[in-house]
Amino acid sequence: MIEHPAFKVEEWNVRETELHLDILAQTESIFALSNGHMGLRGNLDEGEPHGIPGTYLNSVYELRPLAYAEAGYGFPESGQTVINVTNGKLIRLLVDDEPFDVRYGAVQSHERDLDLRDGVLRRSVRWTSPAGRTIKVSSVRMVSFTQRAIAAISYEVESIDASVRIVVQSELVANEAPPNPGKDPRMAAVLENVLESEEHLAHGTVGLLVHHTHVSGLRIGTAMDHNIKGPQGTVIESESSPDVARVSVTTQLKPGERLQIVKFIAYGWSSQRSRPALHDQVIAALSAARLTGWEGLLAEQRAYLDSFWAGANVELDGDPEIQQAVRFALFQILQAGARGERRPIPAKGLTGPGYDGHVFWDTETFVLPVLTLTQPSATADALRWRYSILDKARKRAHELGLRGAAFPWRTIAGEECSGYWPAGTAAFHINADIAYAVVNYINATGDTVFEKETGLELLIETARLWRSLGYHDNDGRFRIDGVTGPDEYSAIADNNVYTNLMAQQNLHSAAEAAKRHPHVARALGVEADEIAGWLDAAARMFIPYDERLGVTPQDETFIEHEVWDFVGTAPEQYPLLLHFPYFDLYRKQVVKQADLVLAMHLCNEAFSEEQKARNFAYYEPLTVRDSSLSAGTQAVLAAEVGQLQLAYDYFGEAALMDIDDLEHNTRDGIHIASLAETWTALVAGFGGLRSHAGTLSFAPRLPEGIKRLAFHTIFCNCRLRVEVTATEATYRLLNGSPLQIWHHGNEITLPVDGAVTRSIPPIKAGPRPTQPPGRVPAPREAHRSS
Ligand code: BGC
Repeated sequence: MIEHPAFKVEEWNVRETELHLDILAQTESIFALSNGHMGLRGNLDEGEPHGIPGTYLNSVYELRPLAYAEAGYGFPESGQTVINVTNGKLIRLLVDDEPFDVRYGAVQSHERDLDLRDGVLRRSVRWTSPAGRTIKVSSVRMVSFTQRAIAAISYEVESIDASVRIVVQSELVANEAPPNPGKDPRMAAVLENVLESEEHLAHGTVGLLVHHTHVSGLRIGTAMDHNIKGPQGTVIESESSPDVARVSVTTQLKPGERLQIVKFIAYGWSSQRSRPALHDQVIAALSAARLTGWEGLLAEQRAYLDSFWAGANVELDGDPEIQQAVRFALFQILQAGARGERRPIPAKGLTGPGYDGHVFWDTETFVLPVLTLTQPSATADALRWRYSILDKARKRAHELGLRGAAFPWRTIAGEECSGYWPAGTAAFHINADIAYAVVNYINATGDTVFEKETGLELLIETARLWRSLGYHDNDGRFRIDGVTGPDEYSAIADNNVYTNLMAQQNLHSAAEAAKRHPHVARALGVEADEIAGWLDAAARMFIPYDERLGVTPQDETFIEHEVWDFVGTAPEQYPLLLHFPYFDLYRKQVVKQADLVLAMHLCNEAFSEEQKARNFAYYEPLTVRDSSLSAGTQAVLAAEVGQLQLAYDYFGEAALMDIDDLEHNTRDGIHIASLAETWTALVAGFGGLRSHAGTLSFAPRLPEGIKRLAFHTIFCNCRLRVEVTATEATYRLLNGSPLQIWHHGNEITLPVDGAVTRSIPPIKAGPRPTQPPGRVPAPREAHRSS
C-alpha cells in the first residue's frame, strides 16, 4: 500500500481513494497496464496533468550516439532508448466550454482501482467545472492478455445536476512532449520528435496513424475504433493530421443522462513490414477486438487471470499489507512477461522509461525463476529472445577476442548499450545467469524440445565463453580474472566467487546437455575434447577461501580492502553512487547488493550450512542495498540460516519497493526484479524451495508475523499447493502424476489429489547479524489493515 492515506489495503485490488498530484508519476507506474507486448502507463484519461506520459511497445526504440570523453576499443557507439510511441489512451472531455482537468474546478471524488483478478484499471471521478457543472466520469481500461495487440477503454460521462454540452475527443497522438530530464543516471535519455509520419486517416469512428523512427527504422501502426451510445442528437466527427487522429463525439446530456464510449486501440510494429501491411495489420486486430466486444474482452481477461492465479496464488495470514503487495508483484511480473513472445523483459517491464527501457541480468536471475514456476511458457519465450540475439552475442565475443557468445549487459535489440564498461561489459556473469535460467527452466518443465532447439546452443556458446575468458594458472587452478560480479561497488576483480560458481555450473550443464543430445551438439561443432575442456575447467575452478576468518571472500582480494567509513556516511549520502566516486567505492569493502549472498542462494550446494551462516554474518554489515536487487536475496539467506525476523524485514522491503517508493524512482517505472524477489523471498525464503536436477525440495519456516502461508507452483506439468504454519507443512498435488519432493531433507512421494503433512523441525540461529549504521531494514511488525 502506498504510504499515503489515499491508499487502502485490499486483498485483490490496489485502490487509491483520492487523487494526489505529488505522487502522480509514481501512481502512473503502479497503475500501468501491460501484457509484455505493449504497456500503457497509468496516465489520466485526459492526458494532463501527467508525471511521465508513456505508451511502450516491446523492442520499439530509437538509437542515439553514445558520447565518450575518452573512447576506447570495443566501446559501443550507439545506445538504444525506449520511446514513447503513439498515445492511444487519450480521451479529452469538454464540459460546456471548459476542459475537464483535475487542476481546475473542484474534484468531488476521485478513485482509481487496479483489479488484479479482472486485469483492469477502473477510475471514477465526480468533478464540478469552474462554471459549477457537475459530471461523473467512469472509465475502465485494459490491455488484453488474450489479444496482445489490443487495448480497450470503456469511458462514460454522466451529467449530475444540469443539462450540459459534452464533447469527448478520443485521440491518437504521436510525439508527445517529453518531461524534463533529471540527472539520475538511472533515468532514460530524452528524445524528442522521434516519430516521422507516414500515414494518417480518420473516418467515422475510426482513426489511424502510421509512423517510423528516424534511425532505428522501425515502423509503428496505431488504430482506433469506437462503439458510441449517447442520447438522440449525438454527433460524431473525425479528423486527422500527421501526428493526431481524432474522433469527436458531441452531445447534450440532461441530468442523469449518459454518454458511453468503448474505444478499441490496436498497435503493431515492424522493422520489415511495409506501410500498407502495417496499416492492414492494425485494422485487422481492431476487427477481431470488435467482434469479441468489450464484454468479451473482459471475460477473456478474467479467464486468463483465473488460470494464472490457479497456478500462482499466494495466501498469507497475519499481514494483509504484504498479502496485497505479493499479489501486486505477481500481477506485475505476469504483465511484464505474459505476451512478450520472443522479446525481452526489461528491468522496468513496460511501465516507464527508466534505465532507457533496457533488459539486464535482472530477467534471467530474478524474474524467470518466478515465471518458470508460475507461467513457464513465458520463460521459454524470454529465453528464445536471448537465442534470437545469439549471433550478435557471438559477434561481440569475437570483438572482445573471446570465443562463444558474450551477451550484452544492457540492451533492447541485442547490441551492447553500456557505455560504462567496468559495470557493463566486464559483468560477464550475465552469460552464466542466462545459462542458469535455461537449466532451471528445463529442470522444472522437462521441455526437451526447447532444450534441443534453443537451450543447448545457449549453454554451449556461454560455456565456450568461459573456457576462453578463464585460464589455468601454474597450480592448475582455473581462474577468471578482471571481471565484475553482481556488486557494482566492486569492479574488475579477480575470481569473483559468484561469477566463478555460476560459470562452473554453466560449464557442467553444457557438458551434460551436450552428452544428452550428441547429434545436435556435434552439429554445433562440439567434440569430445571440447566437453572434456569444459569439465576440466569446472573441476578446477578457483573458489577463494579465507582460512583466517573462515569466510568466502567476494573476490580474491576483497577482504584485504579497507572497510568503508559507514559511521562517517550520512543517511542522505545513500545511494552512495550518487555521492562518491566509483574509484573510492571500488577500493573499499562496501557491497551495493547481494553478491556472495546471491551465490549462496543460486549455488546453494557449494556451501555448507555453517559456511552460509558465517558468510551471511560477514557480509551483512557491509551491504548497503543501494540496488533494489538485494533485499529479496538477503531475505532468502536470512531465512535459511534461521534469522526469520530479519528475513521478514527484508521481505517487507522487497515487497514494498514500489508501492512505498523506497528508492524514490518508481516514477520511472516499477522494479520488476525486486517484485520477483518478493515471491522468491516468500517461496524460497519462508518456503525454503530449491529446485535441482528435476526435483523440488522445501525447508519451510515462518517468521512470527506470518501465521499461515500457502503458495502454488507449477513443476513438471503438475500443480502443487504448499501450506505452511508455525508447526507443520502440508503438500498437496493438485493434478499431474505422483511427484517426489523433499521436506527438510526427507523424501516424500505425493499422490495425485492427496495431501501429506509433515512437522517443521526447530532451528537454532546465531545472534542477529548487524547492518551498516542507518541501513537496518525497517522492522516488519506494524500491520496496517484497511
Ligand atoms: C544494479 C544492477 C541491475 C540494474 C538494473 C543496478 O542498480 O546494480 O544489478 O541490473 O540496476 O536493474
